[in-house]
Amino acid sequence: MTIHDDVQEVLLTEDQIRGRVAELGVELAHDYSDRQPVLVSVLKGSIVFLADLIRATELPLSVDLMELSSYGAAMESSGQVRILKDLSGSIEGRDLIVVEDIIDTGLTLNYLLRYLHERTPASVHICCLLDKPARRLTDIHIDYRGFTIPDRFVVGYGLDFDEHYRNLPYIGVLRPSVYGGAEPRT
Ligand code: IMP
Repeated sequence: MTIHDDVQEVLLTEDQIRGRVAELGVELAHDYSDRQPVLVSVLKGSIVFLADLIRATELPLSVDLMELSSYGAAMESSGQVRILKDLSGSIEGRDLIVVEDIIDTGLTLNYLLRYLHERTPASVHICCLLDKPARRLTDIHIDYRGFTIPDRFVVGYGLDFDEHYRNLPYIGVLRPSVYGGAEPRT
């Protein structure tokens, strides 16, 4: 019995992800060729994407991490976000690239963007692996997008269900029996 047995469908294969991340790395290297950006990423879902993305570019970049808790125990996004781990360095005057695993309602990112802008960076751009536009509740401009996906609850490549499946090397959809029927809401 392995984690693969719980996967009903693979939406994005390892090869597809690897290829697209490499392209994003090239795009970033081109657009930031004269700058030293700070990649701001949100724990924990983005760690796998971040780890691959930074190795797909040879830019002189740095990394900072935040951890946000969203929604408490509720299954629906409420936009109420708490900071569990703050940035460790100053971002004033810096060029930021926010690296996100997935943008769903957009409420988490909306909160994060307001928080970052208050610290007066020189610029803020957004790089997300997955865009799930069907449930978007805020207007967010995504500068670098890996893939647009349908309104399915996905796991793998850093994304979890109940803290499991982050180590799947692909993006997949779980068998309904794993969460007892309907797909979970985030
Ligand atoms: P948003 O605030 O609704 O955009 O939610 C963003 C966060 O919810 C992401 O960073 C993920 O941690 C989580 N999330 C949203 N959709 C999924 C999904 O399909 N699988 C796993 N986590 C998800």
